Amino acid sequence: MITLGIETSCDETGVAVIRDGKILSNEVASSLRFHKRYGGIVPEIATRYHVETIDRVFKKAILNAGVKKSQIGLIAFTYGPGLAGSLLVGVSFAKALGFSLKVPIIGINHLQAHTFSPFIGKRYIPFPFISLVISGGHTTLALVKDLDRFEPLGQTKDDAIGEAFDKVSKILGFGYPGGHIIESLAKKGCSERVKLPYTPHDRESLNFSFSGIKTAVLYYVRDVSRRDNKINVFDLASSFQETVIKTVFEKLKLACDIKKIKTIVISGGVSINRRLREYFIGSSRRYGIKVIFPENNLCLDNAAMVASLGERLYKKKRYISNYYISALSSLGFNTGEGYVRFTVNN
Ligand code: KG4
Ligand code: ZN
Repeated sequence: MITLGIETSCDETGVAVIRDGKILSNEVASSLRFHKRYGGIVPEIATRYHVETIDRVFKKAILNAGVKKSQIGLIAFTYGPGLAGSLLVGVSFAKALGFSLKVPIIGINHLQAHTFSPFIGKRYIPFPFISLVISGGHTTLALVKDLDRFEPLGQTKDDAIGEAFDKVSKILGFGYPGGHIIESLAKKGCSERVKLPYTPHDRESLNFSFSGIKTAVLYYVRDVSRRDNKINVFDLASSFQETVIKTVFEKLKLACDIKKIKTIVISGGVSINRRLREYFIGSSRRYGIKVIFPENNLCLDNAAMVASLGERLYKKKRYISNYYISALSSLGFNTGEGYVRFTVNN
């Protein structure tokens, strides 16, 4: 079966084609360059870009996959969470295409698509596992029992982890997005040389908070500048990154202990970070925990992860969506909570 995936939750316009789990094409066009000067995503610009781009990306995905429109058997699309205007473009495109081709459509939760991204093209998924989605918009911890059974465990109470990387990059005078910039600065620094006065206040909870560490960086820069001293951005970036990585791992370990789980699945844009991978893999090994990451090209927003989960839900659970489905910008992680349920296609 050929499944088309559509992803437009933020600034990436993604269209992918998969055949029985295997990626045939995975096209992404990004409006990122138009947002850079504003230091963050401007929703209006992102929406306009999706409108102008989606048809071209769709045609490219079909062409590169070597399939015809008429061969599409299912259309999977992100319907939330994300920017309302951006989501609406993908949802409307998917519905119109599904209607004209007379094929089933299925709305996919963006966070769940990230969660299963390490298993694209693989048959086996090691349920149950602890999922951590870490991106520019989300820091979400959940226990995943099946393709459609999630128990949300925690989330950020303020900034998302990627957002904290982005803001710290801005504080240090570098560009947006800041994740990869902080990572490369940190490589040349020594975390021990800068002590950031920061302790995560709620060690017992599974929720996250990153605004404190961001403020600690801001105050450090202010205080050192006041004393007319030069800031070593390499050491500061390294200290920030190490603190964040260690704090997040503490939460993961706590979640594993509470839920008695030995498998962790990390996904989302921040999961591309090499130091984070190295630290998580090394630390979890000591506790007999296995950590699984997506391939690098599947960490950032893409439509292959949407197509893949859509195909699994359709084939294994016989789910499709009806045409009343619409964009839900604040969709929660849990399928059963606060949004349109899938209809069962009997
Ligand atoms: O998943 P994603 O493409 O978009 C959202 O759904 O938000 O993630 C983008 C986020 C940005 O905040 C970016 O700074 C961060 O991922 N990121 C990184 C790295 N590369 C991208 N964070 C840390 N280290 C990196 N190497
Ligand atoms: Zn994402």
